[in-house]
Amino acid sequence: MTDQRQEAVPVVPVDVDAHNSNSAASDTRINQAGGLQIQGLVKQYPHSDHPVLNGISLDVPAGKVMVILGPSGSGKSTLLRTVAGLESMQGGQILMDGKPLDRHDVGMVFQSYDLFPNKTVLGNIIMAPMLVHKRSKEDATAEAMRLLERVGLADRKDAWPHELSGGQRQRVAICRALIMHPRIMLFDEVTAALDPEMVREVLDVIVELADQGLTMMIVTHEMAFARAVADRIVLLDGGKLVEQSDDAEAFFTHPQTERARQFLHTFAFERGHHAQNLDDQA
Ligand SMILES: Nc1ncnc2c1ncn2[C@@H]1O[C@H](COP(=O)(O)OP(=O)(O)OP(=O)(O)O)[C@@H](O)[C@H]1O
Ligand SMILES: [Mg+2]
Repeated sequence: MTDQRQEAVPVVPVDVDAHNSNSAASDTRINQAGGLQIQGLVKQYPHSDHPVLNGISLDVPAGKVMVILGPSGSGKSTLLRTVAGLESMQGGQILMDGKPLDRHDVGMVFQSYDLFPNKTVLGNIIMAPMLVHKRSKEDATAEAMRLLERVGLADRKDAWPHELSGGQRQRVAICRALIMHPRIMLFDEVTAALDPEMVREVLDVIVELADQGLTMMIVTHEMAFARAVADRIVLLDGGKLVEQSDDAEAFFTHPQTERARQFLHTFAFERGHHAQNLDDQA
């Protein structure tokens, strides 16, 4: 997985231009590559006396993968939920190609697989495109089947959610988001509730999406995956970005801040050779 992804990095932005051609062509003042820009984002929950996100600024260029790391409670889920339009914001702005991000352009998959229990796999996937995009059942079904094929679940189209493994449900949840043609996909610890054997099948799907040039923000505690899939990495702590790197490999091998070094060490302890690497470079 790691090797394929790293070889693929230089050629990733293949069909990104088709995706963004309109806005990119019509306004050359904006960041040429297009993509998501978060500027000075402040989020404070009602009845709380301090902001959970305190002036977050970051860019996710079109076709790139941003991995967000950070300890529990640092604001990672809140950041994704705010980008997805599920939370109000108290300051700053979130732009896509220089314009306010439309939440319909955002797809999100959560840790808890939230498929509708009373709909089949296919029923779950075609519901939103039919309701929201007014697509015909035939048309939505044809695309749903192509997506299921991609994630290796075409033969489970008539299954009910309770008949699927957690990894299969997450792959269906990914299809359900993709059929809405999001311009950016957000993944919040999508493998955290899975048995270890199912983690890989879900991560492989995400890596494939990255290789195809889908713009993504990913929160994960799977460090080997983060290292393999990330174009950019940020470390959140206490609602602030403490380190930001557009060279994911350098972040893992030469973290610039003491906080990042400490954070990586908590994982490195579980993986002896990483601890060794960090110590060697210290
Ligand atoms: N709905 C809410 N109302 C009030 N406070 C909240 C709410 N949701 C989250 N918080 C607080 O915001 C902070 C950030 O929470 P968040 O869930 O974004 O962290 P996280 O980085 O995703 O953590 P984890 O790794 O445990 O998932 C925490 O202090 C949390 O208690
Ligand atoms: Mg979270």
